[in-house]
Amino acid sequence: MTTHIGLFNHKGGVSKTTTAFNLGWMLADKGQRVLLVDCDPQCNLTGMVLGFKGAEEFAEVYEKGGIRNIRDGLAPAFESRPVPLEPVICEEVSGQSNLFLMPGHIGLAEYEVTLGIAQELSGSLVTLQNLPGSLHHLFNITAQKYNIDIVLIDMSPSLGPINQNLMMTSDYFIVPMAPDYFSVMATESLASTLPKWKAWSDTAKTQVALINASYPYPDKNPKFIGTIIQKYRLRSGSTPSAAFQKWIDEVNKGIRMTLIPALEKCGMLLDAKAYEAGGIEAGDAVIQMSDFNGLIAQSQKYKAPIFCLTDKQLEQTGIVLSRTKQSMETFKKLYSDGADRILNIISNA
Ligand SMILES: Nc1ncnc2c1ncn2[C@@H]1O[C@H](COP(=O)(O)OP(=O)(O)OP(=O)(O)O)[C@@H](O)[C@H]1O
Ligand SMILES: [Mg+2]
Repeated sequence: MTTHIGLFNHKGGVSKTTTAFNLGWMLADKGQRVLLVDCDPQCNLTGMVLGFKGAEEFAEVYEKGGIRNIRDGLAPAFESRPVPLEPVICEEVSGQSNLFLMPGHIGLAEYEVTLGIAQELSGSLVTLQNLPGSLHHLFNITAQKYNIDIVLIDMSPSLGPINQNLMMTSDYFIVPMAPDYFSVMATESLASTLPKWKAWSDTAKTQVALINASYPYPDKNPKFIGTIIQKYRLRSGSTPSAAFQKWIDEVNKGIRMTLIPALEKCGMLLDAKAYEAGGIEAGDAVIQMSDFNGLIAQSQKYKAPIFCLTDKQLEQTGIVLSRTKQSMETFKKLYSDGADRILNIISNA
């Protein structure tokens, strides 16, 4: 059984893509076979994994022949070609043999409107009945081909129909957050949007046309795992500075007071025992970590997670190097503990 986990927040720049790569790698380190799916037409995850600096490098992947990205994978369904969907030929992530990438494509954005119409009509137009289940079907057949345990889905920062579909056909979701005013605002719109999406999905699951489609709309009940709060400055040791702690508290308060009750009402929370198995309560962060500072640049330069850079890749010496290595170890432990927490929550769900 493959587990599908969405990384979602319509607020931009909160580390969804960075988390997908680093957390995916850590889960792979722990023996899980992980498929990263780049569902953002901006293709940042694809650029990060493959170390691309420019658009020409994407062309090389796209032109290699065969179905090699999410858009080409979905094309038969969205362009009404009379052939079934086939698994995408994924990129093997160098340095981690358990980690794979389904590359993104800027053209995925062109399917947004059609999917929106298909979802509005919920199957009453026969030509569109295969679309709401097609993304999940593509991920599943690709996951089967690569013997995948966990599909990690990176999304664009939007509340559009593609994200609605990806979220509602996931098994679980994690909400990355930054400790700032906009993340607090985002909590409120998540609390109003997610229940509406869930209500839509619950209806879609009962529509005969969607059930009988070539790619049936899957019967899923997505559950909230928790938040990931990152990118704050430290005061000393591992304590956030006072200014950031204030925003971390505000974000957590917003989650507790607004998001959790909304998700509870529409059945998107797990039982308390599942959160307990991860050592948290509903709404807590599964990972909380500070700004990566210099490590992020080296990570991107060497296409390696921030916790796995060699001394040579760190490009430092002496006391500076040993300090950086210390902070790398701290991030490694945080990711490792976070990954264990997520796995424990899932296995007790
Ligand atoms: N913990 C961190 N410390 C420092 N920089 C970070 C951290 N996490 C992410 N970043 C940087 O912040 C920027 C935004 O991160 P990222 O692209 O992962 O966010 P995102 O939520 O995927 O954004 P978008 O909504 O545009 O898809 C990037 O430049 C990334 O390198
Ligand atoms: Mg992103």
